[in-house]
Amino acid sequence: MLGFGYHAFLNDHIKRNKCKRLMEIGVYDGENARSMIEAAKENFSPEEIEYYGFDYFEDEWLYQRIYKKLEETGCKFKLFRGDSRVTLPQHVDELPIMDLIFIDGGKSYETAKSDWENCRKLMGKHTVVFVHNYEFPGVKRMVDEIPREEYIVEIIHPPDDYATARIRKK
Ligand SMILES: C[S@@+](CC[C@H](N)C(=O)[O-])C[C@H]1O[C@@H](n2cnc3c(N)ncnc32)[C@H](O)[C@@H]1O
Repeated sequence: MLGFGYHAFLNDHIKRNKCKRLMEIGVYDGENARSMIEAAKENFSPEEIEYYGFDYFEDEWLYQRIYKKLEETGCKFKLFRGDSRVTLPQHVDELPIMDLIFIDGGKSYETAKSDWENCRKLMGKHTVVFVHNYEFPGVKRMVDEIPREEYIVEIIHPPDDYATARIRKK
């Protein structure tokens, strides 16, 4: 399905920049998680790779399948169940600085804004945050408000995928 499960631009970034701490808001079925972890394995052994995933995970059967999928990768991982507007602020202080963050959860302005405001606390000098679906009005408004004097914000148009904001610290 277009825009789900496999994003070449993320995998290329992970391989080229040797990313091993990965975070995703909006895990869906865990296929993109698996694909990003496989990309990280190009430079690291599975036990060196960390994945942090946030989603509602309302369907217990699907949650168990995703959990098993991640166990099979051999990486270290943590899944946070519930609304990211609640779970992210609850856990952000215990999370490490990430190499890559993919914001791909709720698309309303309120949720996108909350996800960004929390994720930016996990950015180091080298961290890149990708925000999927820049074409959604709420996502676009949130991205357009990011202060350009603090962050470098680029809009990329990956082939066969949706417009995405790529953000790093200045
Ligand atoms: C577009 S899908 C994610 C696709 C996945 N990143 C991929 O690349 O295959 C969006 C996901 O965000 C989750 N989601 C939406 N709003 C959320 C919220 N407020 N808190 C937690 N998860 C949310 C949905 O349950 C859904 O699984």
